Amino acid sequence: MNLTVSKGLLEEVSANILVVNLFEGVKVPAGATGAIDIALDGLISDFVIAKEGFTGKFGSTYVLPTYGKIPAEKVMIVGLGKSKDFSLNKLREVSAKVVKKCLKMQNCKKVVSILHGAGVGGFDAQNCGQMIAEGSYIGEYSFDKYKSEKKTKKIEDFVILDMVEENCKKAKAGVKKGKIIASAVNFTRSLANEPAQWATPSKLAEIAQSFKELDVKVYDKDEIEKMGMGAFLAVAKGSSQPPKFIHIKYKSANPKRKLAIIGKGITFDSGGLDIKPPSSMLTMKDDMSAAAAVLGVMSIIKELKPDIEIHALIAACENMPGASAYKPGDILVAKNGKTIEVDNTDAEGRLTLADALCYACDLGVDTVIDVATLTGACVVALGNVASGIMGNNQSLIDKLIKCANQGGEKLWQLPMFEEYKESLKSDIADMRNTGSRMGGTQTAALFLQNFVKKVHWAHIDIAGTAYIDKPVNELAKGATGAGVRTLINYILS
Ligand code: BES
Ligand code: MN
Ligand code: ZN
Repeated sequence: MNLTVSKGLLEEVSANILVVNLFEGVKVPAGATGAIDIALDGLISDFVIAKEGFTGKFGSTYVLPTYGKIPAEKVMIVGLGKSKDFSLNKLREVSAKVVKKCLKMQNCKKVVSILHGAGVGGFDAQNCGQMIAEGSYIGEYSFDKYKSEKKTKKIEDFVILDMVEENCKKAKAGVKKGKIIASAVNFTRSLANEPAQWATPSKLAEIAQSFKELDVKVYDKDEIEKMGMGAFLAVAKGSSQPPKFIHIKYKSANPKRKLAIIGKGITFDSGGLDIKPPSSMLTMKDDMSAAAAVLGVMSIIKELKPDIEIHALIAACENMPGASAYKPGDILVAKNGKTIEVDNTDAEGRLTLADALCYACDLGVDTVIDVATLTGACVVALGNVASGIMGNNQSLIDKLIKCANQGGEKLWQLPMFEEYKESLKSDIADMRNTGSRMGGTQTAALFLQNFVKKVHWAHIDIAGTAYIDKPVNELAKGATGAGVRTLINYILS
């Protein structure tokens, strides 16, 4: 799909589908939709709204033929919902719905759309362009690499049409940004949708190394050992896949701040010797979703050119119950010298993150953000709509929540109550890797905090949001690219 912005009149443009909109409850449309209503001799107001009862309910659509009254073959009216509830996030979502609808229709090669939101909606044309681009490309996405019959229905051209020069200029800038963001999201979705047999630690390293203009260092097993990453290495022991520690660096000419982003990169989580039951293991190829998100962000970073230094880190390995697997009761020594008694081999993510956090703090960055599909407890607490956020600096957390909301993602802060530290105590080591079943997301974060030193730190648990089994807003089922938009907005802020 090639999405562009063009100056012109809706009544004069040729298209298979012309997309206009309607706020809920409006009986006689104004603005661009009104112009089409007039060109169609009142078909929208007199027939679609008055007779057919189309109300403009959010996300609903009505398609009607134009009978040659205008060059476009058909008009699609999309409901924007109540105008008081309308937002840029809703615009992104509705744009995805429009594209999905078009993809289901016969002969829909060229779509022309009005610049939703910039007219009666009252939003800035640049933001509207960005939302339409993000939503359209996120809505278009499907993962059919392994289908022998590929989807043949495609939209070739998607044109946003506006008759005001200034709006077009702004929308173009927005579309450019929206395209970049959506490509990062879809890159991440594809990587996380890949089976574990393909997306191995070595494959993630190879992908990082393909980012030609970035500074990439991949540490192999011997080097990881030399760095003293005993917690990470222990997790990798039960697998025949070698672990990889990936460090990608981006730096602008005069960076204003230094940031490290860490993505949990367990390419398959069987649970290890504390093996998971089949139903829980089924989607564990997605346990590298956060690593995929970090790679997604770095895949487009050169296009965004933020004025900052970024270190993207992934401790990639499989968690398997092979003959050399680490065992409950083993004592591990992390990079910072702290000792950990293994209570449960299925609490592996925090072990790999522990060493990655130590590495990040040694880089002299001012902020560290880790993202991880870390706890089933977070899925229970927040479901698949919001990710959990915790950390040691409230203004960083507040900022990330804002960046998430702006990107159409949701973050919900959970506490890190001191009282739960007790449950991580070990009789013979500095700590255990799990606490009690209660407050599982918090105890995981409290565990991680042991490896954070002198930086502002936030931890984002995307266990519930990274992979969904039914659509949520603009996202189809499967991998979602959770965290990508939040991180990009944070990097650009
Ligand atoms: N990768 C899982 C967490 C997870 C669960 C992600 C469900 C996505 C969906 C993590 O490694 C794990 O197994 N956590 C355990 C920790 C427990 C043993 C303390 C969990 O949450 O059950
Ligand atoms: Mn696990
Ligand atoms: Zn895991």
